[in-house]
Amino acid sequence: MKIEKASEKDLREITQLISKDFPYVKRGLGKFKELINAGQIIIFKVVEKEKILGFCEVQFVEEGIARINGLSVKETWQGKGIGAKLLDHTLKFLSEKNIERTVLLVKQSNKRAKAMYEGRGFKFIGLYHRKLDNKVVEEMELGISGEAPVYVS
Ligand SMILES: CC(C)(COP(=O)(O)OP(=O)(O)OC[C@H]1O[C@@H](n2cnc3c(N)ncnc32)[C@H](O)[C@@H]1OP(=O)(O)O)[C@@H](O)C(=O)NCCC(=O)NCCS
Repeated sequence: MKIEKASEKDLREITQLISKDFPYVKRGLGKFKELINAGQIIIFKVVEKEKILGFCEVQFVEEGIARINGLSVKETWQGKGIGAKLLDHTLKFLSEKNIERTVLLVKQSNKRAKAMYEGRGFKFIGLYHRKLDNKVVEEMELGISGEAPVYVS
């Protein structure tokens, strides 16, 4: 199993995974290509025997701040430590890019994802202003030291 940056040729498959787990994302393939080519988003893919098992997308939102837009492992591969490895890989990459704050959204009911984020120091900072897929969503944040900084809205 290896983790590497996804390129344009992976986007069709990855956008299918995105539509399944994050149906509220309305960004089309063309927009993904544009953002990747502009270096605004990075997508890491987990690959085994040339198959994509999961991905993590991060976006550089402003100086020193990144957002994890999506993290997903294909259903049959879940619960085997792949999501955790992907997240650790992404966080290491962000710290090397001098990112000081990483934010993300997670559904309140998503116990597995929340446990994974909390285990790496992410802290709850508030409820997102709207529901996604009709579910209450939390905002979480990780500061560079592992402590969530004071959130200024
Ligand atoms: C959330 C998701 C990415 C986790 O990936 P995974 O490969 O299934 O998870 P892992 O096996 O790596 O376990 C990750 C963490 O979940 C926690 N965990 C595992 N099984 C769990 C369970 N049954 N209940 C609660 N927590 C659990 C553990 O804390 C583990 O973290 P650790 O490494 O600190 O021990 C994956 O389940 C997924 O793709 N879900 C659907 C999409 C999604 O919800 N994405 C997150 C959106 S914010």
